[in-house]
Amino acid sequence: MATREPPDISQPNAYPFNWYDEDKELELLYNRAKSEHWDPSSIDWSSLNLADYDHAQKTAMAYWWAVLANFENNAAASFSKALVYLTENHYPNFTQKMTGTIVTDECRHDECCMRACNRLCPYFLKGWKPEDDQDAKALNNVRWVYYNGGRYWKGYIASFSKYRFPLVFTSFMMGEACASKLFHEMKDKAEHPAFKDALGHMTMDESRHLAYTWRVLENAIPSLTEEEKALIPKRLRHGFVYLSMVLFEPPNEFWELPEGFMDAHRKLEGMARDAGLGVLTLDEKRQAWRSTIMDVKRKLGKYNLPFPDLPEIDVYGT
Ligand SMILES: [Fe+2]
Ligand SMILES: [Fe+2]
Repeated sequence: MATREPPDISQPNAYPFNWYDEDKELELLYNRAKSEHWDPSSIDWSSLNLADYDHAQKTAMAYWWAVLANFENNAAASFSKALVYLTENHYPNFTQKMTGTIVTDECRHDECCMRACNRLCPYFLKGWKPEDDQDAKALNNVRWVYYNGGRYWKGYIASFSKYRFPLVFTSFMMGEACASKLFHEMKDKAEHPAFKDALGHMTMDESRHLAYTWRVLENAIPSLTEEEKALIPKRLRHGFVYLSMVLFEPPNEFWELPEGFMDAHRKLEGMARDAGLGVLTLDEKRQAWRSTIMDVKRKLGKYNLPFPDLPEIDVYGT
């Protein structure tokens, strides 16, 4: 009797899946992700002694972590969206699995933001009552940052129907490169062990994410069309502009911010720095970002891929 075969599975679909992948570099990165697991809840957040800081310093530090959360919280969802896309489009095994590890990493980074905020200003994003003008400005700024985060999210979801995955991912490269550099420098400057601990682990994760975004791009290079190559500067600049809010200063491009936002932002970052959070000065951020981005530019140049103009940090494209 003939064996009846199942019908074809309608596509796109998570099935059929494929366990076999020859990409040793991605397998090593995936193994690294597993062995570098860490737990934000085991950082001793209670060692942040509230009596060591005045009210304004606590607000300013909670503000910085809440602004960072704009990027960490949505990153977990961004990579989840990417994982569904990769699975349904049958990308290689380790590409899918590495993306899955980044979801967990970004959840951990967001958890650090949440734990720091809740220790310094309990219920900062839900019911915390501003006591003065500075508090009210901090909370209002955070709401504006999240409003823009919501606009970014819509664009991100739409990008999957506009570009192939490597192009979608190119805009992450800037963020990963600069986040690993910034967190590393902040870890050195931060005074409290809980902050040093969190920033150190986050640096390690971001450097792994950066290696992954390079691998995705390198794997895609042979199949990139001239039209897709021409889009790379736009995608990179997109990442630069979005991450500028936390890694540098937001340019007028994309960011919709009210009058007074930047004055309050600079003041709060300054207070958080003085309280020992390790926030870099604008000049330090410019230098850190410039040196990291020059590395990205050099590497893209080796593959003859174009680079955007970033006049904000005195870097110009090809
Ligand atoms: Fe992150
Ligand atoms: Fe990341």
